Order: sequence, then C-alpha cells, then structure tokens
Amino acid sequence: DRRPRVLSGIQPTAGSFHLGNYLGAVRQWVALQETHDAFYMVVDLHAITIPQDPAELRASTRLAAAQLLAAGLDPERCTLFVQSHVPEHAQLAWVMNCITGFGEASRMTQFKDKSAKQGADRTTVGLFTYPILQIADILLYHADLVPVGEDQRQHIEITRDVGERFNGRYGATFTIPKPYILKETAKIHDLQDPAIKMSKSASSPKGIVNLLDEPKATVKKIKSAVTDTGSEIVFDEDKKPGVSNLLTIFSSLTGTPVPELEQAYVGKGYGALKTDLAEVVADWVAPFRARTQEYLDDPATLDAILAEGAAKARAVAADTLAATYDRVGF
Ligand code: ADP
Ligand code: NA
Repeated sequence: DRRPRVLSGIQPTAGSFHLGNYLGAVRQWVALQETHDAFYMVVDLHAITIPQDPAELRASTRLAAAQLLAAGLDPERCTLFVQSHVPEHAQLAWVMNCITGFGEASRMTQFKDKSAKQGADRTTVGLFTYPILQIADILLYHADLVPVGEDQRQHIEITRDVGERFNGRYGATFTIPKPYILKETAKIHDLQDPAIKMSKSASSPKGIVNLLDEPKATVKKIKSAVTDTGSEIVFDEDKKPGVSNLLTIFSSLTGTPVPELEQAYVGKGYGALKTDLAEVVADWVAPFRARTQEYLDDPATLDAILAEGAAKARAVAADTLAATYDRVGF
C-alpha cells in the first residue's frame, strides 16, 4: 500500500465516547480510511496511567472497538487493533524514553493538568511518560498524518522533535508525522461551561454528550445547554461561545455551513436552535447506539476483527522495532 499513512488512537473508557471525540477525531478517521493507509487503535496501555479496574478495562476496550466500528471504521479499509496486542509499542517506548529530555517531557501541559487533578501522591510515572509512549505509537507505523483534536497538538510536536533527534543521531529511521487537526471541530466545548473543552475528565454530566446516552437524556442536555446573553444566533466564539459551539456541532453533523444556519435562524431564538439540534443529535445517535450494540452482541466477530488488525499492525511494528534496535546497537 503506497498511499500516505495515517495513525491515531483513542482511550477506552468506562461508558462511551463523547461528541468531542467523535467530531474532533473519529469522524476524520472514518474519512481518511478512504484515501490513506490507515491504522487506528484502542490505546489500552494509556488507560492504565490512571487507576483502572481490570474487568472494567477489558469491557471498555471492547466497547471502544465496537463504537469505532459503529462510527464507520471498516476493517476492509483500515487496520483496527488494540495497543496491548502489539508489544512493540512498549518496546519502542523504552528507546524513546531514552531519547526524550526530562525537561522536554516536563513541559507537556496535559500532564500538568491531569497530574494536578490526580494529586502528586496518586500521579504515576506512567502518566508522565504517556506522551513518550505516544511517540512510539506514531513512529512505529511511519505515520505521515495523525488526526487528533487540538488538545493533542503538543504531543504531535514532541513526536516530531524526538523522531528528528533519533534520525539525526542514528540515521534516517522514522517518518516525521504531521498533525491533522480540522479547524472547525478541533475543540468541541462543554455544554454547560463553554470555556472548557467537552471532556470525560473535566465535564460535568450535563456538559458532555456521551454517544451511548439514552436519546431522551441527549435531548435534555442539549436543550439545557448554556447560551449567551442576547438572542441572536450568530457565530462569535468570543462573545457567544455557547451558541457558537452549538452551531459547530449542528453544522458538522448535518453538513450545513454555519452561515446558512445563521440565515435560517434569523428572528428565531436560542430555543428553536436547541430544539432542532437536539433532534439532529438524537437522530445521529440512535443508529450509532444500535450498531454498537450489534458488535457487542457478536463477540466472535469483534475478536476476529481485532485479531486480524493486531496481526497486520504487528507486521509493520516488528519491522520498525527491528530497524530501531539495530540502529541503537542491540
Ligand atoms: P478525552 O480528552 O475526553 O479524555 P481522549 O484523550 O481519549 O479523550 O481523546 C481522543 C481523541 O478525541 C483525541 O484525538 C482528542 O484530541 C479528541 N478530543 C477529545 N476531546 C475533544 C473535544 N472536546 N473536541 C475535539 N476533539 C476532542
Ligand atoms: Na484528550
């Protein structure tokens, strides 16, 4: 396959993906599988950087894979696998740990945020080196492009720096990847607090649209989304962050450009926009939920897809690891 390569990952979490994960990342994965040689993974190694219950982790890893398939990933068009099924990730991560500077790693803002939330005593070294495992995840596959949300930009930057450093020190080994971040959906905001991103760790239950919520709950959350002062429906991220977020979600789920939506809602209030958007989201979510359940109800098929994905991924990862070990002197 000579098409440019794309790689990305998502954490398995108890419960479901949220609208920010879908619009910021997974939707691009689905589109890119048509044009790229695509590798997508459920990053269960990353999930244990914070405390995890084993049975829950096992279940949420399967749930994550089922949701990715339900969202439109097609095992005929991409390689879908679970990170821990490919031991080369952890093996390359060690080498990357030894190429990355401590100061450099200390500058990762996501670590600062997450460790502040955990507290110093509960923060693991794994949480600190998470971005370095992610460097290995990406470089193992010679990815050209990494589709992610804005919150991951710094992690792609450090991947480029460390990859270039390795290549400079040991000779050309890795492809240096570029982030693929769609401006419009790079940051979907919390429905109750548009100042923060919609996030499973930071959002309140009312602020986050989980894709497997009951449709009724979804409708209720959207109808009670925080809007802004005034009554006009215009896209203005500074003055109207709440309304702008709703317009972004509306536009990206329906394909209707934001200016057309603004036109359509001239003279109508926030209530009308929220009622219509609630219907749009509920209509999107219903078949997604049904498809996810179909995959969960057929564990043999899900296992077969993930086994085949792991075999395809390992074929690439083992080559890269062997070349890297050779360069290093192992
Ligand atoms: P979370 O940030 O909720 O913990 P993950 O870290 O598993 O979720 O992120 C999976 C993908 O979803 C990443 O590419 C991330 O950039 C993207 N993402 C997460 N939250 C948002 C958001 N609110 N808007 C856009 N993209 C997001
Ligand atoms: Na994230």
